[in-house]
Amino acid sequence: MDADRSIMRETARDFVKYYNPKLHGEVRLDTNTNVLGSNPAAAEYLRTHEWDLNAYPDTYSGGLREALGELYGLDPDTIIAGNGSDEMIDVIFKTFTNWGDDTALPYPSYSLYDYFVKSNGGKAIMVDLTDDFQLDVDSMVRTGAKLTIIPSPNNPTGNCFRDRDIEDLLSRFEGIVVIDEAYTEYSGEGLIRRVGEFDNLVVTRTFSKAYALAAMRVGYMASNRKLADMMASVKIPYSLNAVSEGAAIAAVHDQDFIRRSVDMVRQERPKLEAGLRKLGFETFHSDANFILARSPVDHTALVSGLKERGILIRDFGAKRRTENCVRPTVGTPELNALLLEKTAEVIEECR
Ligand SMILES: Cc1ncc(COP(=O)(O)O)c(C=O)c1O
Repeated sequence: MDADRSIMRETARDFVKYYNPKLHGEVRLDTNTNVLGSNPAAAEYLRTHEWDLNAYPDTYSGGLREALGELYGLDPDTIIAGNGSDEMIDVIFKTFTNWGDDTALPYPSYSLYDYFVKSNGGKAIMVDLTDDFQLDVDSMVRTGAKLTIIPSPNNPTGNCFRDRDIEDLLSRFEGIVVIDEAYTEYSGEGLIRRVGEFDNLVVTRTFSKAYALAAMRVGYMASNRKLADMMASVKIPYSLNAVSEGAAIAAVHDQDFIRRSVDMVRQERPKLEAGLRKLGFETFHSDANFILARSPVDHTALVSGLKERGILIRDFGAKRRTENCVRPTVGTPELNALLLEKTAEVIEECR
């Protein structure tokens, strides 16, 4: 068949593939994973455990939901687990939006939200963040959208949204409010323990960042019992495999590692920020394990110059509101020193 893209579902025709750099052993400071490496408790579990590969996993990941329920003081039936928080976001749209429904998305924020809206047949209404990258609650409410999704800390800007704005949004927004807490381990408590207080709140979380388990693809979400029952009935059964579920349970039981990881980021982030400023970057306040920074030289030259020197960072420089900005992950002291050294070299070369 000589097919052009008109055979595709209308809402998917302008889709392009996601970020997928060709790797040649570079240091990855482009994905905001944990720079301390694989989660040690999960790695130990994988080394020492055997699975019955002929058996299906638990249909709804009961073991992991129990472990998370204990961690947060929540009823496991208010938690849903699956294949990354990306799957959780997809389930939210599948559960609550009809074809053609509007979703309000803050801008700039996580680029995949737009993909999930459209792949579920919806329309994204972009609502610009204020000049200091905070929520414009009035404009979000005025969209009258069916759903909104907000990452706090926000990606790529790095800042948390103000608690009072989030609570204001929760009380005035007519539809479902999703708070994406992918980076909340770095910033504080978040709202996950409080999901039972709200009739329209869903909180998503991931094992891909502070938990150092991105390869296993594990995410989860929590809400009040009624919403959770609805979402559980929509999620694909068995979507979290048995190996990943076991590794995630082991990781939940090692909170020391999470504390160590978070402490390192909190110590190193201001140092990296100061180093970047010294090199002429404008930096933006971060509550996460990455920093948005406006480059003193052309962003593409900087990112490709660093790649040639064996370091990947993420480029946001071609996008509105983050013009000429890049987003490095906060590394270990050694990695940050290397990043600053190589960045200085590239800047020198560009001048
Ligand atoms: C804000 C935000 N939400 C969700 C995700 C996806 O996480 P997961 O690996 O759990 O699908 C990311 C990944 O970068 C993210 O930055």
